[in-house]
Amino acid sequence: MNDQDPVGLDRRTVLKSAGAVALGMASTAYAAAPRKRFAVVGVGSRSRMYTHAITGKFRDSNEVVGVSDNNAGRAALAVKTIAATGASKPKAYSAADFDRMIRETKPQTVIVTTPDATHNDYIVRALDAGCDVITEKPMTTTPEKAQTILDACKRNGRHVRVTFNYRYSPPRTQIKDLLMSGEIGEVLSVDFHWLLNTVHGADYFRRWHSNKAISGGLMIHKATHHFDLVNWWLGAQPQSVVAVGKREFYTPEMAKRMGLKGPHERCRTCPEKSACTFYFDLAADAGLKALYLDNEQHDGYFRDQCVWRPEIDIEDTMNVVVRYDTGTTLSYSLNAFNSWEGYHIAFNGTKGRIEHSIVEQAGVAGADETQGKIKDDGVTTRIIPLRGAPRDIEPWTGTGGHGGGDDVMLTEIFGDAPADKYKRASDERGGAYSMLVGAAANQCFKTGQSVRIDQLVTGLTAPERAPMPSRTTSLPMPMKVKMP
Ligand SMILES: NC(=O)c1ccc[n+]([C@@H]2O[C@H](COP(=O)([O-])OP(=O)(O)OC[C@H]3O[C@@H](n4cnc5c(N)ncnc54)[C@H](O)[C@@H]3O)[C@@H](O)[C@H]2O)c1
Repeated sequence: MNDQDPVGLDRRTVLKSAGAVALGMASTAYAAAPRKRFAVVGVGSRSRMYTHAITGKFRDSNEVVGVSDNNAGRAALAVKTIAATGASKPKAYSAADFDRMIRETKPQTVIVTTPDATHNDYIVRALDAGCDVITEKPMTTTPEKAQTILDACKRNGRHVRVTFNYRYSPPRTQIKDLLMSGEIGEVLSVDFHWLLNTVHGADYFRRWHSNKAISGGLMIHKATHHFDLVNWWLGAQPQSVVAVGKREFYTPEMAKRMGLKGPHERCRTCPEKSACTFYFDLAADAGLKALYLDNEQHDGYFRDQCVWRPEIDIEDTMNVVVRYDTGTTLSYSLNAFNSWEGYHIAFNGTKGRIEHSIVEQAGVAGADETQGKIKDDGVTTRIIPLRGAPRDIEPWTGTGGHGGGDDVMLTEIFGDAPADKYKRASDERGGAYSMLVGAAANQCFKTGQSVRIDQLVTGLTAPERAPMPSRTTSLPMPMKVKMP
């Protein structure tokens, strides 16, 4: 236990206040503000970004008071890691004791970093217990679950924070800045193509992500980042979706075409380790071993399942067309078996086009390396006016995870950040609009019918957006310059 009382006043604060009162001075002039209390549910790979920030750079004003997980080994590891920093010693709780954790540790905020399909349950229970909530993306996996979150927010008069870290990555914020400036006028259409490589991309097919009931498939789990970026970049709400999706690469048939006898259960016990170029050694990375391999006895979860298993039910190739409430259209694709990772995007505006691409240094998720790092010289941004010469834009840069986005976002959450003219902080409305595009695409994969977003949930309103150029506010059209 740490030396905190339930309302977060530490002994140092109380002594200072008592001394001040004895001297006849206003105690508030001396009392350090109590630290903000956080509880974390789901202490796997991603949770460490938050606990590292809380126990490190932001420890003076924040602390972790409780952790909960359905794997007792990972919960114990989280407590040990946090306590080793000397910042606090949280109490560990089983997943079944989540409500008890809230009652006993009295967090102001619950951070939800469990697998995607379980977010809604913890978000709603935390809100109903009177806590604020920070949840990882995707906010949830189905429209029905999204509805429970929207209803709980309304019932409790609170917003949930959905941590779309990609918005904060400097080169992606720069795109927002360029679009806001009106230089290419109003955006009428967007072409967006995202590639996952066979290291990071294949990794989705080894983990719980390969089960659509848990992850929602890549349309929800991964593309929620991408749909959110477009929603935010455009400052618009998606209205309708058509899509096709298939799995043709990570299949038993492909294993045979590669000359394997498999599929098998998992890499660790695979009889064809040396023959399979997708073999993954879970014991090779000390962090992954400690987190997953050493805790298998608690829940039987294998982090290195065979990517060729027949029971995988997520797609590896997806094409989506979205219409927005502004009339803008998006053509998007996601492919999970490529030789490089990153994306190309083009915004077609009334006065020109922005072409932008990023190449990522994508590796195995959660391994001991920076996640979602942008390659050196991996950003290209070009403005091509309708009339006039194209120009390359010097990219804004950042360091750390997810293109430098993680650090900027963490400062906004746990530290002091100035008011944000890009309105990057997202709540349940942004969380819903992004995951509902994926949910609509999933529905369309089955029915072949276009899906309207407003028919998936009720009571969803547009989030607050940064002002974007519109037909009434944008600069005059560039018709005076002659065609080249
Ligand atoms: N924003 C990003 O860039 C980013 C990156 C990685 C992961 N994520 C998100 O973070 C979340 C966690 O992903 P991860 O990679 O850490 O997964 P993980 O498998 O490493 O960790 C999940 C943890 O939750 C626990 N858990 C599973 N079911 C639970 C339940 N019902 N109740 C309580 N605990 C449960 C597991 O034991 C595990 O410790 C996911 O929603 C994922 O989409 C976001």
